[in-house]
Amino acid sequence: MNIQWDAEKYTNDFSFVHQYGSSLLDLIDGENLSVLDLGCGSGALTKELAERGYDAEGIDASAELLQAARTHYPELRFTQADAVSFQTGRQFDVVFSNAVFHWIDREKQADMIAHVFDALKPQGQFIFEFGGHGNNALIHGALARAFEARNLTYQMPFYFPTVGEYASLLEQGGFVVRTALLLDRPTRLNGGDGLCEWIRMFVKAPFEGIGPDLREEIIRSAAADLEGILCHNGSWYADYVRLRCKAVKPLV
Ligand code: BEZ
Repeated sequence: MNIQWDAEKYTNDFSFVHQYGSSLLDLIDGENLSVLDLGCGSGALTKELAERGYDAEGIDASAELLQAARTHYPELRFTQADAVSFQTGRQFDVVFSNAVFHWIDREKQADMIAHVFDALKPQGQFIFEFGGHGNNALIHGALARAFEARNLTYQMPFYFPTVGEYASLLEQGGFVVRTALLLDRPTRLNGGDGLCEWIRMFVKAPFEGIGPDLREEIIRSAAADLEGILCHNGSWYADYVRLRCKAVKPLV
């Protein structure tokens, strides 16, 4: 799924995305390694990888986000490419990815995994986190009810697999799975209108063909539905569930 990103808003108002990704970097085993940041967005974690001493570079499909990455971190190398078809001129010790794979359709995951496998050296580490089974289930449920109340059908646009399903895809792709966890991560959203802003930023495809007034009415209705559940003392929380994995490319 390709979406048009508002790079500045994404970088400033949704900085929790890369802040949470920071702890994922601790799963990297070894020093002075080459690391490919797959779906690097505006480059905050690519920069952190470089600060930790890794030879880091980033790939992303979005021209808007890459422009922000190049502006903020001109010393780093960023390339525009799609995660399901990217080619690298060299093999890396680590392929790292944060909050990206839920944007890739289920049918394209095997292609993406195959490209990661090719991009890694033998014994290379594939370390990633993205939305897992049940991610944002309350939000998508409320949106589905708001669509249905207006005789519309809500198509949840993301891929949120279970540990079993994803570990199996990794094994079919030749990887050995070392760690695979599904964890709840309720996440505080910025601002008093946090949930509506979150929906406007991330949930675009289901609203295609729907006019701006109706779109806004649906978003407000979903937020009103969830106020007693996801809003506490004036702050909104998104019901994030993460799938966090480390897999290794075997020596032979
Ligand atoms: C996530 O990081 O889990 C996510 C963010 C936006 C849309 C869907 C999932």
